Amino acid sequence: MTTSTTDRLSEQGSGRTNMVELLPSILSADFAHLADEVAAAERGGGTIIHVDVMDGHFVPNITLGPPVVKKLRGATKLPLDCHLMIEHPERYAEDFVRAGANSVSVHYEAARHLDGCLNLIKKAGAMAGVVLNPATPVSVLEDILEVADYVLLMSVNPGFGGQEFIPFSLDKIRALAEMRRAKGLAYKIEVDGGIAHDTIAQVVQAGAELLVAGNAVFGAGSAEMNARSLLAAARKAAGEASV
Ligand code: DX5
Ligand code: ZN
Repeated sequence: MTTSTTDRLSEQGSGRTNMVELLPSILSADFAHLADEVAAAERGGGTIIHVDVMDGHFVPNITLGPPVVKKLRGATKLPLDCHLMIEHPERYAEDFVRAGANSVSVHYEAARHLDGCLNLIKKAGAMAGVVLNPATPVSVLEDILEVADYVLLMSVNPGFGGQEFIPFSLDKIRALAEMRRAKGLAYKIEVDGGIAHDTIAQVVQAGAELLVAGNAVFGAGSAEMNARSLLAAARKAAGEASV
């Protein structure tokens, strides 16, 4: 009897049934050459572009809004994953879908009516994700998990690229993967912050499949080569064959 990749992953206890994917985060890219940066990350195997939206209130930094997403939409065929680090996400989420986002995630800590906000995103035509800050336990999601298409666990405090991975995030990934298995749900687990060569294997082995990387892709060196080697490390950790 052959053992499929899925079986092997289940044996590891992750319950992961999806292939791992690399999500280059443009926060660390050269904003004057975004289209080129995204193209390089795609050549290296990035399959979803992670777009960090910050408002200077929810986090102490300001980045970009729907007009930039709209331009990016015209510059790449890859799905755009908008991570809203903003207050009142319900006021702006649809604008990002209209601008071309394929998935939009909102922070549990910012969305006062989280169920309503996730449904708003889905109704607008995108996948809806919920994000947790490092200090927010996964248990708060118990009742909303069936509504979310994916859960994004922050493994740094949001606001800036290039920070160090917070080790206790691994326990949260494991717990979220176990909740998925126990409930028979299919939400994907995305992890964001401090993912680099020294952390990516542990993140995958804990049960995540959507791996965001900013500095490790767009920092020093070639974005294409960086993406390629990160993805290879992730696939190896998942027991998937390199493509
Ligand atoms: C941080 C952002 C991340 C950021 C990750 O608040 O949400 O997406 O780009 O950057 P790295 O991979 O450099 O930690
Ligand atoms: Zn992010």
